[in-house]
Order: sequence, then C-alpha cells, then structure tokens
Amino acid sequence: MSAMEELADQGKIRLIGVSNFPVGELRRAQAALSRHRIFSNQVRYSLIDRTIEGRLLDYCQQNHIAVIAFTPLGHGLDQISRMDPSGVLERIAKQCGKTRAQVALNWCLAKEGVVTIPKASTIERVAENCGASGWRLTAEQLQELSHGIRYQRRGTLEIALRRIARYVFQRIGREPA
Ligand SMILES: NC(=O)c1ccc[n+]([C@@H]2O[C@H](COP(=O)([O-])OP(=O)(O)OC[C@H]3O[C@@H](n4cnc5c(N)ncnc54)[C@H](OP(=O)(O)O)[C@@H]3O)[C@@H](O)[C@H]2O)c1
Repeated sequence: MSAMEELADQGKIRLIGVSNFPVGELRRAQAALSRHRIFSNQVRYSLIDRTIEGRLLDYCQQNHIAVIAFTPLGHGLDQISRMDPSGVLERIAKQCGKTRAQVALNWCLAKEGVVTIPKASTIERVAENCGASGWRLTAEQLQELSHGIRYQRRGTLEIALRRIARYVFQRIGREPA
C-alpha cells in the first residue's frame, strides 16, 4: 500500500484501487495509507452473485469506496437464464424497451456507488452495454428482479478457498475454472 501511495504522490497513478478485498483487508489497507484513500474495490457482483450485499457493500458505501462490479453479467446471459426460470429478466427488458444485458447491468448500477465492467467481444455489444446507464429501472422492477432471479451468496470459507485456489493457479500459470 505504501508503494501505491508513492505512485500516487509521483502522479504516476491518479487513484488507488484494490480488488477482492473483504472489509477487514479494506480497513487494514486504508490504515496503511497516510496521504491517500482507497478509491475503489473491484469485486464480483451481479443478479446471480450477490455475495457482497450486506457487510461489504454497506462498508464501501459508507466509506465512499466505489464498487467496480466484475462479472456483472454473471459470465453471460445464459448463466442468468439458468437462474431465472420464469423469465423475469426478459419480461422486464420488454417492458422497458431495453435488452436483457442492459437491464441486468442497470440492476447493478441502481446500487449507490456501484459501476460495472462487463466484458464484450464486439463493438456492437460494447455500445449496447453502454446503453445500460442513463436511465433507471423502477423500484418495482428492481424488486421483481431481486426476488424473481435466484442467486448465490458465497460464505466466508468458500471465498477463502477460492482465493487460495486463485493464488495456487497463478503460481502455476493457469486460470482457475
Ligand atoms: N478482479 C478480478 O478478480 C476479476 C475476476 C474476473 C473478471 N474480472 C473482470 O471482469 C470483467 C468481466 O467479467 P467476465 O468476463 O467474467 O463476465 P461478464 O462481463 O459478466 O460476462 C462476459 C460474457 O457476457 C457476454 N456479453 C457481454 N455483453 C453482452 C451483451 N450485451 N449481450 C449478451 N452477452 C453479452 C460476453 O460475450 P462476448 O465476449 O461474446 O461478447 C461474455 O461471454 C473483465 O473485464 C474481467 O477482467 C475481474
């Protein structure tokens, strides 16, 4: 963290961000900084993975740490469809005149302090995904999406095991599944 602070002092970076930090690590990282604050935390968040809701999202919002939601489409709309047997996403997309991806991203953006970084392979999809912002789902639509689509919330043990697995795979030069 002190190296990050030096880079910020030298103007080599504008802001300091971290990734996959739980609350305890955010606290420790911030305490290690004396002249700058943590600007963002990049974490997994989507309609189908709401692990950060509660403690981590609350902490980031209260401390003005931007949440950069990675995998905000849950790795692709097919994955969301598997968790949405009654087709809530499709129905709300039709209601709003938006695409399913735009609605799924807008659901994330509706949370205070959350931005999304969907990955897309074509310019058309990038343009489509940009159309996820600049408008709002209604409170009712947000509720319907939140309640109608199944999701997982990883426990502390699973998160820790995934981090260890990621570390091991990085060491041997492979991506975890
Ligand atoms: N910090 C971390 O630990 C971490 C970990 C994982 C990922 N990330 C970052 O998160 C970002 C995205 O995550 P991700 O790739 O895992 O998942 P994602 O963005 O949730 O999903 C990407 C998938 O959605 C598809 N897609 C994108 N736009 C679409 C649209 N408008 N309509 C239909 N399908 C669409 C893509 O297809 P096409 O590619 O065919 O367009 C791709 O298959 C990346 O920038 C990645 O670097 C960060």
